[in-house]
Amino acid sequence: MVSRVIPVDDFDLVIFGATGDLARRKILPGLFRRFVAGQIPETSQIIGAARTAQDDAAFQADVRAAIVEFGKVDKKSPDLDRFLMLLHYVSIDAKGEGGWKELKAKMRKGAIHAFYFSVAPSLFGDLAERLAAHGMAHGDARIVVEKPFGRDLASARALNATLRKHFDEHQIYRIDHYLGKETVQNLMAVRFANILFEPLWNAQYVDHVQITVAETVGVGGRGSYYDNSGAIRDMVQNHMMQLLCLIAMEPPYHFDPDAVRDEKLKVIRALEPVEATEIVRGQYQANGDEGSYLTHAENPDSRTESYVAMKVRISNWRWQGTPFYLRTGKRLRARTSEIAVVFKEPPHSIFEDAHTSGEPKANELVIRLQPNEGMNLKVMIKEPGPGGMRLVQVPLDMTFADALGPEGADMPDAYERLIMDVIRGNQTLFMRGDEIEASWAWTDPIIQAWDDGKARPEPYDPGSSGPDEALGLMHRDGRRWREIRS
Ligand code: BG6
Repeated sequence: MVSRVIPVDDFDLVIFGATGDLARRKILPGLFRRFVAGQIPETSQIIGAARTAQDDAAFQADVRAAIVEFGKVDKKSPDLDRFLMLLHYVSIDAKGEGGWKELKAKMRKGAIHAFYFSVAPSLFGDLAERLAAHGMAHGDARIVVEKPFGRDLASARALNATLRKHFDEHQIYRIDHYLGKETVQNLMAVRFANILFEPLWNAQYVDHVQITVAETVGVGGRGSYYDNSGAIRDMVQNHMMQLLCLIAMEPPYHFDPDAVRDEKLKVIRALEPVEATEIVRGQYQANGDEGSYLTHAENPDSRTESYVAMKVRISNWRWQGTPFYLRTGKRLRARTSEIAVVFKEPPHSIFEDAHTSGEPKANELVIRLQPNEGMNLKVMIKEPGPGGMRLVQVPLDMTFADALGPEGADMPDAYERLIMDVIRGNQTLFMRGDEIEASWAWTDPIIQAWDDGKARPEPYDPGSSGPDEALGLMHRDGRRWREIRS
C-alpha cells in the first residue's frame, strides 16, 4: 500500500510553552516526523515562544535532545539538522509586553499563521488578548487550545467567551488528542463506510457497550494538576465523551466538521443524568515501594478519584434501553483502551444443547484503540470435528498492523495528524465550543454531588481491575466487564 502524503501549505507555527513537557514529548517530535514524511515545506517556520530567555541555537539544541529522547531518533540524523533549521525562538511574556513585537516581526505575509497554546490554562485568555492587541488575530490565523478546557460549565463558557472576543469559532482548534488517534477515526470508517454494522447499531440489537481506558501509570509528578481534576475531569468529560459520541452518533450527512460535530452534540445533549448508585469512584492504594494516590496528591486527605466507572444512558430512539458502561483509571492491570459493542443473543436458538457450557453466545465487536490497534468480531461457529453439533465462539481478528503491512504498524501519533489538520484548516477532529459546554453541563452535577457528599472513593489495589464495587455495577444488570489486558 502506498501512503499518500499531501504536503501542507507553507506555514508559521508558534508554539507557546515550547520548552514545556507536552511540546518536548509530543508536539516537536510529531512535527519532526511529518517533516521527514515530506509533509512540511522546508520554508515553514516553527517558532518556540516561552518565558525562558535563550537564543535560536539554544532552543534548537533543546529540541534536538527532545526529539532524540522522545522521538527515538538518532542524534546524528541529517533529517534532524534540516528540521532544526525551521526552528526559531522568541522569549515572551504572556501577561506583559515582552517579546510580542519580535514575534510579530517574524511572522511572514502569505504563510498560514497558527498559534499553539501549550501553556497553563490560566494563560489561554492572556495569549488570545495579546495576539489581538499586536495585530496577529487576523481572519485567517488559527489558535490551538490544549486541554483542560475549563473545569466546569461556568469556566468553559467564560473561556469560550474570551477566545471568541478575538477569534471566530472557525479559527479555534480545541484539542482532544483522542480524536487524532488512528483507530478513533476508524470508528467512523467502520460505522459509515460499511453496510454491515449500521443496521444492527441500535437498541434492538445491541445489548450494551463498554468503553474502557485503562492505564498502568499513576499520577506521579502530576499530582497537583491531577488532584484538582480527577478521572472525571481528566478523562471522562473529554476523551471518553468523544469515544461515546463517535459510537452513538447518527450518521452525519457528510464527513464535514460541522456535520460531524452537530451529530456528536446531539448525543451529549441526549445523555441522562447519572444516578449516584450507577457511578463508582476509586483511588489506588500503595503497593510495595510505590506510593498510593495520596502519596502523590497535593492534599494528603484528598477525595479525588483516580478511577471512575459509570453506567450511562442515552435518551433517544436509537439507544433507548441500551446502557453504555464507561470506566477509566490509573495504576490498573494493563494499559488498554477499547470499545466493546456487545450484541444481543439470537432470539431463538435452534442449537439448544450445542453450546459448550459457560461459553458466551452473543456476538461482540471489540475496537482496540491501543495497544495493537485493530478490530475483533466474535462469532459463533461449529467446533470442528466429529461428535455432533457443538458451538464455540471464535474471533475474526484484524490487527491493523497485520492487515495493512508496515504502514499499519507505523501510524502517526495523534498530535502529528491534528497539527497538520490545523494547517489544512480542517476542524473535523477538534471540539466545537458548544460540544464542550454540553459535556460540562452533563458532568457538573456528578462532580457537585461528590463535592457535597462526604463519601471517599473506594480503595483499589494497583495492578487490579479497579474497585470491586465497579464489578457490582455490571453484575447487578446480569453483565460483566471484559477483562483488562493488553
Ligand atoms: C491525557 C490525560 O489527556 O491523556 C492523562 O491528562 C492520560 O492523565 C492521557 O494519561 C492518556 O492518553 P493516551 O494517549 O496515553 O491514552
